Amino acid sequence: MSAAKRPIEIAPSILPADFSRLGEQLQQLDTAGADRIHWDVMDGVFVPNLTVGPDVVKSCRAATDMMFEAHLMVENPDLLAPLYVEAGCELITIHVESTRHLDRTLHVVKDAGARAAVTMNPATPLCSIDNVLHLVDMVLIMTVNPGFGGQAYIEAQERKVTELAHQIGARGLDIDIEVDGGIKPSTIAAATRAGANVFVAGSAVFGHPGGLATAISELRSLAQDAQ
Ligand code: DX5
Ligand code: ZN
Repeated sequence: MSAAKRPIEIAPSILPADFSRLGEQLQQLDTAGADRIHWDVMDGVFVPNLTVGPDVVKSCRAATDMMFEAHLMVENPDLLAPLYVEAGCELITIHVESTRHLDRTLHVVKDAGARAAVTMNPATPLCSIDNVLHLVDMVLIMTVNPGFGGQAYIEAQERKVTELAHQIGARGLDIDIEVDGGIKPSTIAAATRAGANVFVAGSAVFGHPGGLATAISELRSLAQDAQ
């Protein structure tokens, strides 16, 4: 499948970080070998949790050169996406369930100067993105219901990852497949075999007894071995 040979990337979620010293935590993730930072943006409406606004992201931009991606779990992505681009996010991920006009919202992201990605909740079918696949650089397949870190990986989403990888290959598109939720040493190999190449990990990175660098290199080598 087309996604199989794409570079493996580990994208730590900032959710479990110590928010009182976020800049320092980003530098530690950088040193530990993270490929990009995954900002989980929650507005308390689209999901029952509230996290960081664009000013927080902006205040951390100078801490590292790593790519920032914003996973927008918000009710009004057309209004908020440009603010996160301005804050320094190079990739913005839009939930299909969060907008009536997905094609327009993805263009809002691109017009603001970022790369666009799309995602869907576990219950949402893959066909919901058929007509926008040519607009995105990445598709995020949620492997938990969004809102909280530390939830159990939903294995049934691997079927969606595999189907997506086939579609991307059949259409000759250049698109990363990211998975988010419950990614840890015991789940990352199967997600890789299904076709994913970018892995969000929160609790598995911050909660590893060996520290951040050990967590990241362990996840990376398990994925590389499964590819
Ligand atoms: C869930 C978020 C996550 C997730 C990652 O809404 O999108 O990025 O919390 O955390 P872990 O790796 O702990 O499942
Ligand atoms: Zn996320």
